[in-house]
Amino acid sequence: MYVVNMVFNVIVSAIIVIQSALGLPLNTLLFRIDNEASVFESGDDMYTVIWSTSLPGTGYVTYTYDGEDYTLFDEENAAIRSEDTIHSVRIPKAHLDNNTYTYHSQYVGTRRAYVAVKGRTVSSKAVDFKGYSGQEKINALVISDIHENPDNAAKAVSCFDVEPDLIIMNGDEVSFMTAAYKFKQVLNYAHRFSNGTVPVIYTRGNHENRGEYGSESVRIFKTTTGGHYFTCRYGPIQFVCLDSGEDKSDSDWTYSGLVDYTTYVAEETEWMKSLTLDEDAQYKICVVHIPNIKNRYVNNWVDILSDMGIDLLVGGHKHRLNFDFRPGEAPFKIMLDGGKTNSDGYIATMMTFADGQIYVAGYDNEKNFRGEYTYTFNEEEPVEEDG
Ligand SMILES: [Fe+2]
Repeated sequence: MYVVNMVFNVIVSAIIVIQSALGLPLNTLLFRIDNEASVFESGDDMYTVIWSTSLPGTGYVTYTYDGEDYTLFDEENAAIRSEDTIHSVRIPKAHLDNNTYTYHSQYVGTRRAYVAVKGRTVSSKAVDFKGYSGQEKINALVISDIHENPDNAAKAVSCFDVEPDLIIMNGDEVSFMTAAYKFKQVLNYAHRFSNGTVPVIYTRGNHENRGEYGSESVRIFKTTTGGHYFTCRYGPIQFVCLDSGEDKSDSDWTYSGLVDYTTYVAEETEWMKSLTLDEDAQYKICVVHIPNIKNRYVNNWVDILSDMGIDLLVGGHKHRLNFDFRPGEAPFKIMLDGGKTNSDGYIATMMTFADGQIYVAGYDNEKNFRGEYTYTFNEEEPVEEDG
């Protein structure tokens, strides 16, 4: 495979060098941004800007912050990555919030010990990014379980008359993760709904574990936990974003004996136990694809999340809208956020955070209103009067 890749790269490099010499436009046609960037939450007060190109190359983001010009590269262990078509750059949230960024990639045809053949550099337009700015109402659009039908999701999303401040993609946006092109679909949907201008919280669904690229797709986000789980803040909201793994045990025939979520989720559970959420957060929200939290590979997440003080859990996976799933299972409410329905339709939800409450409304792809609910937290218990 190494030799095949090398020969392919040398041929493409030769074509690009020759066409450049002849002044032909092949370079422009061959190397381009094929999925515009989205800005993903990735924990530790950092964003990860991710985009892709049609051929391998470098990736870097430029911006100005506090009077200083920054160029941050997609790099790993001191090397600027150049052999991938998916590019990811981690940037402090404070630098990007309410700022403008531009991303760039340069084609790298081949890279040897003492030489590299490089081609054109492509750049995005400058993107104005909107982070939290103290607004009183915060609108979070939830689009889980797209399952490769983004047009239906877009029809449902078009029913909302408010613009989202952030996007929650709660897993199973694609139905399997066999290669980079499947992750590029996730990028495509993320940009379609966020335009690269608002943060995206993406959790991994069980279907996005399925295939050789499932593990690689986690690496792209560069979280410090190493897994696809992290915490993040949006103004008064603290999110705990979890990876619920698969929906069947490791020994199920589906996985061919080639998965070990037992160990992965045990590590994630230890990380969860180590967390202390911000005291000043007005809302503490858990976002996780599979809402069955009593037994995640024998780990009971109900008690851990209760100890954290979670107010509401937003789950996908069930392909329906439910504002009070399994009442009484946990001391907080569990919401099912819709997604692809069993009749091949789609339900999108918008969560509006204001005044210590969360108002949630859902619409489907036929533009039907599918329900609403208001979550109120920290209500004083009514005092019973004598007599
Ligand atoms: Fe699922």
